[in-house]
Amino acid sequence: MKTNAAMIGGGLIGRAWAMVFARAGWQVRLFDSAPAQRIAAHDYMAASLAEQRAYGLVDDAARALARIAVVERLEDAVADATWIQENLPEVLVVKREVFVALDRLALPSAIIASSTSALPASRFTEALPGRARCLVAHPVNPPHLVPVVELCGAPWTAPEIIARARDVMTAVGQTPVTIHDERDGFVLNRLQGALLSEAMRLVGEGVVSPEDLDRTVRDGLGLRWSFMGPFATIALNAPGGVDDYCARYGEFFRRLAADPAPPSVWEGANAAKVAAALGDPPDATERDARMRWRDRRLLALRRHKASEADWASEADWASEPD
Ligand SMILES: NC(=O)c1ccc[n+]([C@@H]2O[C@H](COP(=O)([O-])OP(=O)(O)OC[C@H]3O[C@@H](n4cnc5c(N)ncnc54)[C@H](O)[C@@H]3O)[C@@H](O)[C@H]2O)c1
Repeated sequence: MKTNAAMIGGGLIGRAWAMVFARAGWQVRLFDSAPAQRIAAHDYMAASLAEQRAYGLVDDAARALARIAVVERLEDAVADATWIQENLPEVLVVKREVFVALDRLALPSAIIASSTSALPASRFTEALPGRARCLVAHPVNPPHLVPVVELCGAPWTAPEIIARARDVMTAVGQTPVTIHDERDGFVLNRLQGALLSEAMRLVGEGVVSPEDLDRTVRDGLGLRWSFMGPFATIALNAPGGVDDYCARYGEFFRRLAADPAPPSVWEGANAAKVAAALGDPPDATERDARMRWRDRRLLALRRHKASEADWASEADWASEPD
């Protein structure tokens, strides 16, 4: 199979996707309409690939960078691409317009994917002659360090396109999950939304400080979740499986489910209380430094998860000595 990819938009997400494909040996063309963004994307990718090399995520940073060409015209990016990833702003008319152009310009065999966080493909691909090869491939920021990608087609996306998309994502080192029905927020952001809404309520009502809430996830739930999901977690909390778990804890969880955080936690007095508890947001310099720190921590965590000592593989537990 030809391994040429086109990145449409070179902001935070587009430049990260470009590195994912280039690391895996693909030729990548990245297009952004803003000249300053084209320069910024190139500089960021050069620095990031060098850092990824230091953590073993890429063998040869210079060669990976050389596989990425930053181009000035959409048609040059798309010309011979078999995977096209759209990463433009989260605005419906922008997605609609660019998908018309992409469907017209792309090779017949190309898959056209959108990084959209919350717009289902059915809202911007319905009228396209090639709508069967369009889907959402929703990454997590930054996709070159966080591998999961949600694949969600519109009702008219061909099943073989979803299957091929899974194969491509696996081949470039990502972790694809298939979403079988278009839902607001797909799956990842629905889970994140449930947790954040409750966090907004608990901090807004003064039940816990924002710092202790972050600790609860960082050194509690999140520590387990970094290598096993919530279902794998509860399977170990009740010996008889999910039926047993529901029998033991179902009444408590039903009580919580009957009293969810209301939409108002996101506005007005409650949002103001959370903002006050959090204090002033970091300035641009500190935010930048914190982003670089986050990326180094993610690199270290990925290296750990890839190491032999990692228990993430479900077969590994069986081979551990007693
Ligand atoms: N940032 C995140 O956390 C995140 C996570 C997952 C998915 N997404 C999704 O990815 C997409 C891109 O988000 P981002 O954070 O990279 O945004 P961004 O603002 O960083 O980048 C968008 C880029 O598109 C360029 N652009 C705008 N209009 C264009 C056009 N017509 N042609 C070519 N280039 C154009 C801009 O110059 C900019 O560089 C959005 O749909 C967003 O919802 C973002």
